[in-house]
Amino acid sequence: MTTTVKNAKPAGVAVPLQAASVYRKLTAADSGLLAGHLKRLDPHDRHLRFWGGVTDTAIDEYCARLDWSAAVVVGAFIDGDLRGVGELVRVRMVPRIMAEVAFSVEGPWQNEGVGTALLRRVLTIARNRCIDRVYMLCLAENRKMQKIASKFEAQLSFGEGEVEGRILPAWPSYFSLMEEAVEDGKAWFPAIFDPASLWPGLSAPPDQP
Ligand SMILES: CC(C)(COP(=O)(O)OP(=O)(O)OC[C@H]1O[C@@H](n2cnc3c(N)ncnc32)[C@H](O)[C@@H]1OP(=O)(O)O)[C@@H](O)C(=O)NCCC(=O)NCCS
Repeated sequence: MTTTVKNAKPAGVAVPLQAASVYRKLTAADSGLLAGHLKRLDPHDRHLRFWGGVTDTAIDEYCARLDWSAAVVVGAFIDGDLRGVGELVRVRMVPRIMAEVAFSVEGPWQNEGVGTALLRRVLTIARNRCIDRVYMLCLAENRKMQKIASKFEAQLSFGEGEVEGRILPAWPSYFSLMEEAVEDGKAWFPAIFDPASLWPGLSAPPDQP
């Protein structure tokens, strides 16, 4: 079934929805996919995500610099394409483990729960890594991000032109660990039978001499 997204950008674009969505962790091998997704954000969304205009080159550099040993990046794949990302980056280990989060969902797929689903998954991952504090920084005008953060009991502090959201994840539990394991299993299971479902490049025929 195909559903038309409310508030879709650009207008009139019909996008198949959550039935075909898969959430999975990205790896360093997915850097190109991550860069492609971030480059598809329109100028306003880039501004909200990066606190200013960023060029394609700056996005490439950002992805190349990402320290995958300190980051967990969850991708939302809709009909096989990366359309949303939640980034959890550990920024401090002592005296408490702290991490920052950032989110992006491409325009036509916004307002359909993808950002909320990403934050939920990222918080479960933070909880299972014993992260004490998760920080989300956004521009004051970014009401949508503040709305999502408030669903997870974030304490919002309003500064000059910016808002800081602080979330204190609970300790890991059997259920939170199972939740993450089940999510990972759901994401990777199809690849056993059809690797190209996760890495479309695998299905491309080899170059002819
Ligand atoms: C912020 C962002 C990640 C949200 O993703 P999303 O998939 O659209 O989010 P969701 O659909 O899960 O939730 C959006 C919520 O905001 C609400 N909302 C939409 N416009 C709003 C507005 N102007 N003011 C307040 N709330 C608004 C929606 O109703 C929805 O709430 P609901 O689930 O209770 O109905 C996405 O808009 C985005 O990528 N923006 C650009 C980059 C950015 O701002 N990143 C955040 C900086 S870290």
